[in-house]
Amino acid sequence: MQSRYNLLQKKKKKKWPYIISGTFAGLLIGVTVVWVGMNEWNIDKSIEELRNLTEATQPVAVGKIEEPILEKPIVEEPKEEIPIKEEPVVEEMDMSGAKGYVGNELLPQEPTVAEGIVIASKKYPLPSDYAPGESEEARAAFQEMAAEATLSGYTLIAFSTYRSFDYQTTLYNRYVTNDGQVAADRYSARPGYSEHQTGLAFDIGEQHFEQHFARESFGETEAGKWVAANAHKYGFIMRYPNGSEKITGYMYEPWHFRYIGKELAPQVYEANVTLEEFLDL
Ligand code: DAL
Ligand code: ZN
Repeated sequence: MQSRYNLLQKKKKKKWPYIISGTFAGLLIGVTVVWVGMNEWNIDKSIEELRNLTEATQPVAVGKIEEPILEKPIVEEPKEEIPIKEEPVVEEMDMSGAKGYVGNELLPQEPTVAEGIVIASKKYPLPSDYAPGESEEARAAFQEMAAEATLSGYTLIAFSTYRSFDYQTTLYNRYVTNDGQVAADRYSARPGYSEHQTGLAFDIGEQHFEQHFARESFGETEAGKWVAANAHKYGFIMRYPNGSEKITGYMYEPWHFRYIGKELAPQVYEANVTLEEFLDL
């Protein structure tokens, strides 16, 4: 049996929820009335203003501004053609440990000449101010060869010939940035060490087949095979043949031809050796 006291207690306890919810309801109604009043007793305006207020107070993610993702270009560009921003010219470099380079040397004052031809290699660099431009003799020989190639159906073009010391610096620095120095040293000459600075090196490709420019795949194309088999008749030799990296210091470059003259080129071709071996450099 419940005592009168207990019944009274139960009744007392039940009052509080009504008091609290009543107070909230009262407050809500009060605030609503004031808000609507502030908004000229216009219900729509009151709702709109309330929405603006809540949007304006949304937290902002600090430090999380996302940048757009840039897609890499799909088409690969030829390695030896694209100028980029100028880098400081490096005349003195640490050659220690780099395959083929001799030591920590300054560039010479004069180029090395052997058998009447200017040498440019990892062992025999050029002066930084050696700037003969493209050889007219080499250009004429190339045009003669290109004319002959058209008879077999190939339109040859020279996509990179003379390169200044500064331009080679730009290219080399770019490759080092992209691939690291060890990799770059296998396919790109350091400034002062490039045959392109002699004006006698011609990078050859077939027109409309840019995908093979400065690529080993050029050696597999019919045009590439034609050049490999005929260039010597016009005074050019493939300077960095396949499997000769230990001797030349560079990977296979079936596109890079060096003009050494119509007398010497057939001899090197017939001997089937590198220029280093032929001239005992
Ligand atoms: N690609 C050749 C080695 C050069 O840079 O001269
Ligand atoms: Zn080249």
